[in-house]
Amino acid sequence: MVVNSNPIIDLKGVTLHYGGDDVVRDINLEIKEGETKVILGPSGVGKSTILKAILGLLKPKKGEIYIREKAISKLPESELVKTRLRMAIVFQQGALFDSMTVGENVSYRLREHNLMDAKATEERVREVLKFVGLEGALKLRPAQLSGGMKKRVAIARALAPNPEIFLFDEPTVGLDPTNAFNVEQLILKLKTRKVTIVIVTHDVGSAFRLADSIVMLHEGKFIFEGTPEELKGQSDKRIRAFLDPMSVASCT
Ligand SMILES: Nc1ncnc2c1ncn2[C@@H]1O[C@H](COP(=O)(O)OP(=O)(O)O)[C@@H](O)[C@H]1O
Ligand SMILES: [Mg+2]
Repeated sequence: MVVNSNPIIDLKGVTLHYGGDDVVRDINLEIKEGETKVILGPSGVGKSTILKAILGLLKPKKGEIYIREKAISKLPESELVKTRLRMAIVFQQGALFDSMTVGENVSYRLREHNLMDAKATEERVREVLKFVGLEGALKLRPAQLSGGMKKRVAIARALAPNPEIFLFDEPTVGLDPTNAFNVEQLILKLKTRKVTIVIVTHDVGSAFRLADSIVMLHEGKFIFEGTPEELKGQSDKRIRAFLDPMSVASCT
């Protein structure tokens, strides 16, 4: 559901690198409030790097990233912290703290930034664990959870501070089909709220099931932007080779 026509995230002419070759060059990307945007592309193409830059963890070599029309490179640290609190990332590996219980993991950001009092924190933790179907896991430790459960706890933790923007890095990769399905169902449930979701993935099926709009990254550039239906209809060889490698292989 798109609720506002101004982009909530806007990358303008952005080049990203780690000191060596450019990872992405001069890319533009507008993400509208309330939409679910999927950044699709093979491994190593720079998808996680783009997420790092959106979070303000990696500074563009060129160009600028705007969050709600504010240039993040120009924000003082205190404002950057506030901007980051509007966003939540669910990392590929879940990245839970092993020494903490599920409840402590989920409440971590609430406590770190003093966002609510103890009672409200406890209620919020229960509410978000219920959202992901893990009310019973409050006192467990990450080591006692399956991979799918860890991922759901990571989603609950992201949800706890009530962010406006969710960033997912390869949400279904490494999960068995049942758990991948469960995670997709949770993302679809999140979509019914008024949040903006950015998903980076190389999972084509998942992209088609979750996206309102897809951009495809190829060799440091976006070579497609449009709806899942529009992507399916593309005849560009690079796109066909990625979407359907078997058919391309059998034609050559
Ligand atoms: N911290 C880093 N330092 C140096 N190079 C990196 C770092 N992280 C990623 N890279 C390189 O940047 C490129 C893009 O990586 P990444 O954004 O992780 O791709 P993707 O998420 O699409 O698989 C790769 O060539 C990778 O080796
Ligand atoms: Mg990655």
